[in-house]
Amino acid sequence: MIDFKNVSLQLGSKQVFDGLNLHIGRGEFVYIVGSSGVGKSSLLKLLYMESFAGSGEVEVAEFNSLTVKRRQVPYLRRKLGVVFQDFRLLEDRSVYENIAFVLEVTGAKRKDIPGRVAEVLSEVGLSPKRNEMPKHLSGGEQQRVAIARALVGEPFILLADEPTGNLDPNVAMEIMLLLKKINQKGITVLVVTHDYALVQKVPAKIMQIKDGKIFEVSLKKNP
Ligand SMILES: Nc1ncnc2c1ncn2[C@@H]1O[C@H](COP(=O)(O)OP(=O)(O)O)[C@@H](O)[C@H]1O
Ligand SMILES: [Mg+2]
Repeated sequence: MIDFKNVSLQLGSKQVFDGLNLHIGRGEFVYIVGSSGVGKSSLLKLLYMESFAGSGEVEVAEFNSLTVKRRQVPYLRRKLGVVFQDFRLLEDRSVYENIAFVLEVTGAKRKDIPGRVAEVLSEVGLSPKRNEMPKHLSGGEQQRVAIARALVGEPFILLADEPTGNLDPNVAMEIMLLLKKINQKGITVLVVTHDYALVQKVPAKIMQIKDGKIFEVSLKKNP
């Protein structure tokens, strides 16, 4: 499903990845951990093909970084939902409009949009807030909107780059449990985090980036 094969990446003068190999199977829930600047966000960018490896290859479903055409990248992106630490909602649009927008730009049938938006809003527990503007929502609610927006196109992979970095511990925990619930419906989920306390409370496979490579680690070795 996701395969990094001998991937090297240089950014500026920094060798971020050096012969990195990673396999993630369909339906897995994986934490990506590592200290600041180690390349966690860069790894996700390689996945959604915003950047490309200097050598090696990245495979995501039927898309391969060595052969993908620029015009195919939007089709890959539709299969990936991405969530960020800072939510990235459209401030001048309501909750409903933020989510519906994705379906409008990807050419969904107009009559299908309201029902599909209602479905994802219910999935993230935000149906009563559908007409609110983002600035009137708490951080946790804004992240739920971002997650609903990431899910509305029915992706098979959800990528989250430090999704709980701006949230209080209790809210962070709720968001992580929501991501777990989404995973249980069959969506592969990758969560970048440096919050080991949270990883401890919501356990899953942990992959650590270090010295340009990535390895599976157990929690005990990383207090
Ligand atoms: N466009 C860029 N040009 C030069 N260096 C970059 C660029 N983007 C990221 N970097 C560097 O690459 C390294 C990895 O960055 P990043 O993937 O954002 O790390 P993380 O998400 O783990 O904190 C960092 O040292 C960062 O400063
Ligand atoms: Mg980062």
